[in-house]
Amino acid sequence: MRAMKVLVTGTGGQLGSKLAGLLGRDPRFDVTGTDRRSLDVTDRTRVLEAARALRPAWIVNCTAYNDVERAEEEPDRAFLVNDAAVGHLADAAAACGARLLHVSTDYVFSGEPGGEAGGVPRRPYHEGDAPGPLSAYGRSKLAGEERLRAHGVPWVVLRTSWLYGGPGRNFLHTMLRVADEARRGGRPVRVVSDQIGTPTDAWSLAAQARRVLLEGASGLFHASCEGAASWWDFAGAIFRLAGLGVGVEPIRLEAYPAKARRPRWSVLEKRRLTSLGIHVLPHWTQGLEAAWRLRGLGPA
Ligand SMILES: NC(=O)c1ccc[n+]([C@@H]2O[C@H](COP(=O)([O-])OP(=O)(O)OC[C@H]3O[C@@H](n4cnc5c(N)ncnc54)[C@H](OP(=O)(O)O)[C@@H]3O)[C@@H](O)[C@H]2O)c1
Repeated sequence: MRAMKVLVTGTGGQLGSKLAGLLGRDPRFDVTGTDRRSLDVTDRTRVLEAARALRPAWIVNCTAYNDVERAEEEPDRAFLVNDAAVGHLADAAAACGARLLHVSTDYVFSGEPGGEAGGVPRRPYHEGDAPGPLSAYGRSKLAGEERLRAHGVPWVVLRTSWLYGGPGRNFLHTMLRVADEARRGGRPVRVVSDQIGTPTDAWSLAAQARRVLLEGASGLFHASCEGAASWWDFAGAIFRLAGLGVGVEPIRLEAYPAKARRPRWSVLEKRRLTSLGIHVLPHWTQGLEAAWRLRGLGPA
């Protein structure tokens, strides 16, 4: 059997690095990874050249402008990466007969019943629910999804949530740092307890993406870990794993200084992955423990 050729963009990031590693160890795939230095996805000419040179069966886009706060100040830059570049990648996929797998976010939802775009009751959002982003980041990601749907190239969108796993900034490492500072200062760590979603480790999402590629599935899929948690729950679980006896004080979302509005409730129901029998994401606590113990996410 010939290995499936896959071009993964954004391999300098959390998901891109894990996915390129996972596919690279799997003989069913022939993977080429690109990071920002080797392929800037906002450069349409270069994107088309790269795809034409490689002729992959799939392009998997793991790039993103992910800074939710900064996106409020520079929405144009967020739209360039999260929206316009998706169009370049879709054109490139179409030019070489490839399919495009793209990744989106729970922040396309408002999480507020009666909020923008109508909102929904507090139950997990499924793929048929109407989005209503509250932030520039969320709007840019939704624009990218819509651009891809309208394009005509065969496509997949995996909407995930609260992704962590490094490299770079992530909630787990931020918590370990602030816990250390708080312990030395003799004060508790303060963490938001009324924003509810699902932490998803990048290894589990990479495994789910691989399953989708192998299945040749198409369309929109919710793809986060199972269960629901607040940031406060997530921080508590990290401190227990790390054996840190530091207090975690719950605070309200309003008390957290932020420019961007975030959905208070963005748990995702994996309705389509489940109905196809290809849902492989674990409960978020299992994902965290595996990331900590087996994958070296915790401090050495
Ligand atoms: N992180 C989360 O909490 C979260 C939650 C829900 C959904 N998602 C979605 O999940 C996907 C993967 O996220 P992630 O956390 O793995 O992201 P990440 O760690 O921020 O990685 C994104 C990568 O894209 C690169 N990049 C940015 N602009 C680029 C450009 N113009 N050309 C090429 N590369 C570029 C970044 O490089 P630089 O580092 O140099 O900028 C970075 O290496 C994204 O679609 C994201 O929107 C993430």
